[in-house]
Amino acid sequence: MPLAYLNGTYLDQNKAHLPLMDRGLLFGDSVYEVIPVYHGKPFQASAHFSRLQHSLHAIRITNPLSQPNWQQIITALSADNPVPAQAIYLQITRGAYPERAHQLPAQPQPNVFAFSKTIPANQHIRQHGLHVVTQPDERWQRCDLKTTNLLPNVLALATAREQGADDAIMVRDGIAHEGTSSNLIAILDGTLTTAPDSPQLLPGVTRNLILRLAAQANIPINRHSICADELPQADEIWLTSSTREIAPVTRLNQQPIGSGTPGPVWQQIDALYQVAKTNPDNK
Ligand SMILES: Cc1ncc(COP(=O)(O)O)c(C=O)c1O
Repeated sequence: MPLAYLNGTYLDQNKAHLPLMDRGLLFGDSVYEVIPVYHGKPFQASAHFSRLQHSLHAIRITNPLSQPNWQQIITALSADNPVPAQAIYLQITRGAYPERAHQLPAQPQPNVFAFSKTIPANQHIRQHGLHVVTQPDERWQRCDLKTTNLLPNVLALATAREQGADDAIMVRDGIAHEGTSSNLIAILDGTLTTAPDSPQLLPGVTRNLILRLAAQANIPINRHSICADELPQADEIWLTSSTREIAPVTRLNQQPIGSGTPGPVWQQIDALYQVAKTNPDNK
């Protein structure tokens, strides 16, 4: 059985338990991160730790561990799962208290846990792309925080799957914000377009790297919100995340996007991304 980390101890995943009164369980009072590890080396860990700090600060939890402590946990869990590509999932809850009460406890004792998950090969998606549908974005107003309040994301994905699609792009007031667990980038009239950072979407580590790679490759970039109406005419659409990398979307609401196959800008940026994954500067 693979190992989990729980509050300073490594143990079998199926022996790692949280108390019933844990606030993460009762209120979704917790934040998380997902850090990819390729061939034993964490990828963009600093950016993930900065975002973790941002999420913790916003929900008023002091980071219970130092960055070297976190790094040790990543090293131990990834050594226990020696696969080429894995993601270390880590979560911090505000902890368990004697009774269920909404008010914040005076002396928080966060619970911390982490485990490794193998990242599956994505050859089929790289060749054929994703089929995606639009869905109403029913999430709260702080989607910039990586909290475990993910029920609207879970339900949007479930509806997409019921409709025979792979995933959903979430739309509110005519604006397409992001995927259920990924950021949205579109190539509109040859310009790489993606929304500015805002409370409506997660500031994706993958998206930030793509923006840097695109700038270096002199691809025109426009940071503006994407209207759902613009998407059917897009040259290309991508969904990006640390575990999915850059997934081309080849059908939206049953209609082909561009040629209906992964497009040329995706080919170019994906090639640069694959090189960046092997660059030790991107730790
Ligand atoms: C809602 C949402 N948006 C965007 C992302 C992409 O973020 P990152 O590239 O940092 O993995 C994720 C990742 O899980 C996500 O859940």
